Amino acid sequence: MTTRHDRENQRELAVAATGLVKRFGDHRAVDGIDLEVRRGEVFGVLGPNGAGKTTMMRMLATLLHIDEGRASIFGHDVRAEPHAVRRLLGVTGQYASVDENLTATENLWLFARLQGLSRTESRARSAELLEQFDLTEAAKKPIAAFSGGMRRRLDLAASLLTRPPLIFLDEPTTGLDPRTRGQMWDTIRDLVRSGCTVLLTTQYLDEADQLADRIAVIDRGRKVAEGTADELKSSVGQSTLQLQLADSALLPLVAEQARRLLGEEAVLTPESRRVNVPLTRTDQAVEVLLALRERDVTIESVTVQKPSLDEVFLALTGHDTQDPQDGPEGQDGPASAADSRSADTDRTHRMETSR
Ligand SMILES: Nc1ncnc2c1ncn2[C@@H]1O[C@H](COP(=O)(O)OP(=O)(O)O)[C@@H](O)[C@H]1O
Ligand SMILES: [Mg+2]
Repeated sequence: MTTRHDRENQRELAVAATGLVKRFGDHRAVDGIDLEVRRGEVFGVLGPNGAGKTTMMRMLATLLHIDEGRASIFGHDVRAEPHAVRRLLGVTGQYASVDENLTATENLWLFARLQGLSRTESRARSAELLEQFDLTEAAKKPIAAFSGGMRRRLDLAASLLTRPPLIFLDEPTTGLDPRTRGQMWDTIRDLVRSGCTVLLTTQYLDEADQLADRIAVIDRGRKVAEGTADELKSSVGQSTLQLQLADSALLPLVAEQARRLLGEEAVLTPESRRVNVPLTRTDQAVEVLLALRERDVTIESVTVQKPSLDEVFLALTGHDTQDPQDGPEGQDGPASAADSRSADTDRTHRMETSR
């Protein structure tokens, strides 16, 4: 039953999906995913290779049939109103089909014309985007001569020709070197500042951490967790209170308080007058600190260390994001021409995280 309230609520949501399923033969690549992306946010879908990210995104973008469940984009049903949905969406990763021998400018014009922009609009908008994406210099060269980073930027530029309010970015930085990756992050932040909503998939934990307001963790076609990066980190309950005392003789007193107040075993390092106390909730740090002040323990430094997203992922799924997933060879599916193109470039930084 859809009530009027539900419908209004869905218009406020850039993406609303329930129970999405996609089967390839017997394999459920997407296995009952619910998703809500709010207007104006960056929503990150984090998961390892083969988790079902691209498949889910392609269903939402009308590019792949939805087997079960339903989805709407700004209140428009994806199955019933594909044309309305496509007008609201910028999707990257499709640009690869365009002619490699044409220059960047020619490609953008062509693409703009294909998307229904007038001749004048096409020229103006292409020039504007080439400028914005720092591609003016390269604009006269054929795409064949472009680096991986330039291709990604051009791909993103192409998806923005019609100024869509919602952008889908499928692994925008996979295979890029760290510097180009940083540039792409800046570009994405600019997009959001200009009012766009962004749905982004990534297998980089630090990318989700840096860019996304909210994150859904996907594993084997299912959503295993959702929340802000901080919420995900606290949910696995592995924050640590790290203290350095003025006097190492008082370390056992800290351990005693940790046991009494939290039921936790502290780890002492007398050589550096340090003690680590595991926390279930970050605010438990305060209880320990107050108890120590009452006992006149002088503390030289205090930090609360949250777990990294790597640890979160491991805790949620029982494996890390590098583990191969089941499924046939060439796991990326047909949408990821951009991925296969960059397969030969540097992928070694995939698991790099910002601790
Ligand atoms: N066209 C397809 N035909 C058969 N299996 C596919 C197809 N596209 C994707 N798959 C499979 O679906 C699963 C999810 O793939 P995909 O959505 O590309 O994952 P991700 O984008 O998270 O890496 C994988 O096991 C993949 O092999
Ligand atoms: Mg993919």
